[in-house]
Amino acid sequence: MPRLPLLEDLPPLDGKRVLLRADFNVPLDKTTGAIADDLRIRAALPTIQWLQGQGATVVACSHLGRPKGAPDPTYSMDPVRARLGELAPGVELLENLRFDPGEEGNDPVFVARLVEGMDAYVDDAFGAAHRAHASIVGPPQTLPSAAGRLLAREVEVLLGLRNQPRRPFVAVLGGSKVSDKLGVIDALLGVVDTLVIGGGMCFTFLAAQGHSIGDSLCERDQVDTCKRLLGEAGDRIVLPEDIRVLDPRDQVRDVGADVPEGCKGLDIGPYSGAIFSDVIGDARTVFWNGPMGVFEDPRFEAGTRTVAHAVAECSGFTVVGGGDSAAAAAQFGFDKEIDHVSTGGGASLELLELGDLPGLEALRKASNAPE
Ligand code: 3PG
Ligand code: MG
Repeated sequence: MPRLPLLEDLPPLDGKRVLLRADFNVPLDKTTGAIADDLRIRAALPTIQWLQGQGATVVACSHLGRPKGAPDPTYSMDPVRARLGELAPGVELLENLRFDPGEEGNDPVFVARLVEGMDAYVDDAFGAAHRAHASIVGPPQTLPSAAGRLLAREVEVLLGLRNQPRRPFVAVLGGSKVSDKLGVIDALLGVVDTLVIGGGMCFTFLAAQGHSIGDSLCERDQVDTCKRLLGEAGDRIVLPEDIRVLDPRDQVRDVGADVPEGCKGLDIGPYSGAIFSDVIGDARTVFWNGPMGVFEDPRFEAGTRTVAHAVAECSGFTVVGGGDSAAAAAQFGFDKEIDHVSTGGGASLELLELGDLPGLEALRKASNAPE
């Protein structure tokens, strides 16, 4: 596969206008509307500074939230514009791309409006590179194009895990739904030495092993698939052996791998936390995506905290997928100890699963891309 065009592959930019697609889809505080975490804005700064250093005017664009193809004040870019103005003065920022149905519809008319007056295009929106939307796949058809520093680094790290991980390679998956992660589970089982599974999705696997799961989350229609995966992977899949539950009297209790009737599993138990930590500690490469329990509730945060701690302590190369697990690592103060915290949730899983993304394909087809 040809490599991605990088910033150095762009023509001279002095006095030119560059359209920068960033992923400024930052979490907003539900009550105040203020930016809760500006990681995604800070992550674009190296690219912005490089472009400005070349003498270019940077015109940035992004989506924010999921407005339905029409202006919606809840998702105005104003807070992002204000923060960006502090971090990178002189950058213009267009209004939320998803206020126009042409963005998600990949409408050529919308693409034409975006590229009008622009001399080059830079994609640094790793978190949105799995979306074949207008601002992601459209501009490289007509403008000299490049991957920004963040996008290039994310791709290098994640494809490195997929293609040449140092072993043992341990992946830790959590989160609520197996069905969301089947593709990535299949792909990871093709490359990892051990796949550790916690979070809500572990109960569908436990059910597939014949355990009782009480009132815990379970996707009944995925039990057969989990049986197949367990059959294929054998002891390379590690599941919890104890569970922290809420019992019918609203008491928190630890039980074994069988969850009693009326109890709901909401975290892995302490014994499982210790087993998971040992597996992680022995790894030379770790990929972690998805919390082990309902970590927003202090009664059920221990499993996720333990895993975050183990990943932080691991001397191997450690990568955390975006979204909830990155938020958990930051909440517990371990994010600095992790080698790469991805800015992409869905995008990092899809890149691990498929080895490519629509946004990367589009860049490789740009007229200035290396052969
Ligand atoms: C994300 O937050 O995962 C990206 O910004 C993509 O957003 P989306 O899932 O709404 O397309
Ligand atoms: Mg390390």
